[in-house]
Amino acid sequence: MNLRRLLRPVRSRFLLLFAIAPALLVACNKEDAQSTFGTSGPIADTQASLFIFIFWIAVVVFVLVEGALIYSILKFRRRGSDESLPAQVHGNNKLEIIWTIIPVFILIAIAIPTVKIIFDQADPPTDEGAVLDINIRAHQWWWEIEYPGEDVVTSNEIHIPVGQWVNFTMHSDDVIHSFWVPKLAGKLDIVPGDVREINMKADEAGFFFGQCAEFCGEAHAKMRFRVKAEEPAEFQDWLDSMRRPPVELVSDDAIAGQPLFAANCSTCHATNTWQAPAARNERTRLAGLRSAYLDNQEDAVVIAAPNLTHFATRETLGAGLIDLNAENLIEWIANPDDVKEGNRMKELAVPYRNNSLSSDDVRQIAAYLLELKPVAADAVIAPAGDSGGTAVERGAATFAGNCSGCHSTGADAVVGPGLAGVSSRGDDAYIRESIVDPGAVVVDGFPPAMPPGFGTTLSAEQLDDLIAYLKSL
Ligand code: CUA
Repeated sequence: MNLRRLLRPVRSRFLLLFAIAPALLVACNKEDAQSTFGTSGPIADTQASLFIFIFWIAVVVFVLVEGALIYSILKFRRRGSDESLPAQVHGNNKLEIIWTIIPVFILIAIAIPTVKIIFDQADPPTDEGAVLDINIRAHQWWWEIEYPGEDVVTSNEIHIPVGQWVNFTMHSDDVIHSFWVPKLAGKLDIVPGDVREINMKADEAGFFFGQCAEFCGEAHAKMRFRVKAEEPAEFQDWLDSMRRPPVELVSDDAIAGQPLFAANCSTCHATNTWQAPAARNERTRLAGLRSAYLDNQEDAVVIAAPNLTHFATRETLGAGLIDLNAENLIEWIANPDDVKEGNRMKELAVPYRNNSLSSDDVRQIAAYLLELKPVAADAVIAPAGDSGGTAVERGAATFAGNCSGCHSTGADAVVGPGLAGVSSRGDDAYIRESIVDPGAVVVDGFPPAMPPGFGTTLSAEQLDDLIAYLKSL
């Protein structure tokens, strides 16, 4: 056969490879946000070195094997009308021993560093200071973040201190997800019912991209997150700020947006976990929302949803998907499906089902969220119950900030019972005891989800106002 014709399909494949090579090489650009080559921490660094080591071994094997193949094709090709076969080497013991032993040595050379690194990286080093523990819980399609012992919970943006080892303890609430911060560490699957741990350290400050790396449903590709590595003092400031109350709302839109948020969004999204009892209860609250969803998926109107406490301090929106700014936030609230197909908010939340949010409502809710930030560390915090209005109005604000994550003001049960007509269930003393010592009076059929001491974060005046409001329902 003519050699040129023989090589034609090979040549077209080479051309194709050359055409797509630039696209493949984009992944190797160290500056790329999700590049595994531009590493920023020791775990990813070691893993990248191991990859490079194995890569060069593979290059040598590739060149030798393909070289021998091409040599054989050319040297032993059929020439002219000569039909005779070249000398056969089948059954050559010496050759077969050589090409068995060489791969054994190659595999041993790869296995020794690989296994060593797997064991080295299983736990953070014991001689490099305290390890920061962070709990991660993966949801379709966002990330719940908890700093155990700190009474701080948040979502989708993980703050860590530069130079300190961090150990992530990870759960999944639904399907298999995979936690991956390319510049800091390799990926780790999170399997429902199992606990997975991964540790990493950032050597430099940065806003690192994270991505769910296991197909987990419709919005998988948009299940992103960020790791914000900050200097230790800055990290501590952030941690402290997450435990301070929000600033007073300023703009008319934000003030109008607060009750709209309370009525339409706060059943699933908490904004009050700057208070320790609410932070401690957040996991229970989200688990309650999750089981309420599972109990009746057909008609469910609730789902575990991202915590939005001090939301305005974040940089991204929609689980690390787009920048947080007024324009994007309005677009997200108005039509979440246009931004992130398949998200549960559009599918489940009543305002979308009923199409009941006007464009003014959307703008005002966005304005409210964009003013949700903590007061400065040295701010003088006004005594509670000092905000004017009638007792019922003040009580409504207290309810929106503290209770509406678990209780509706209608008949619908969320995590706890709906509170319409609560005064018919008992007198003032009963309502007061339900708030101050919730364990003593759990309504039949509900879990004891309210944390002990929940009411102790409220001042006596706030408690009186809250009771006045509840009796008005
Ligand atoms: Cu979560 Cu993919």
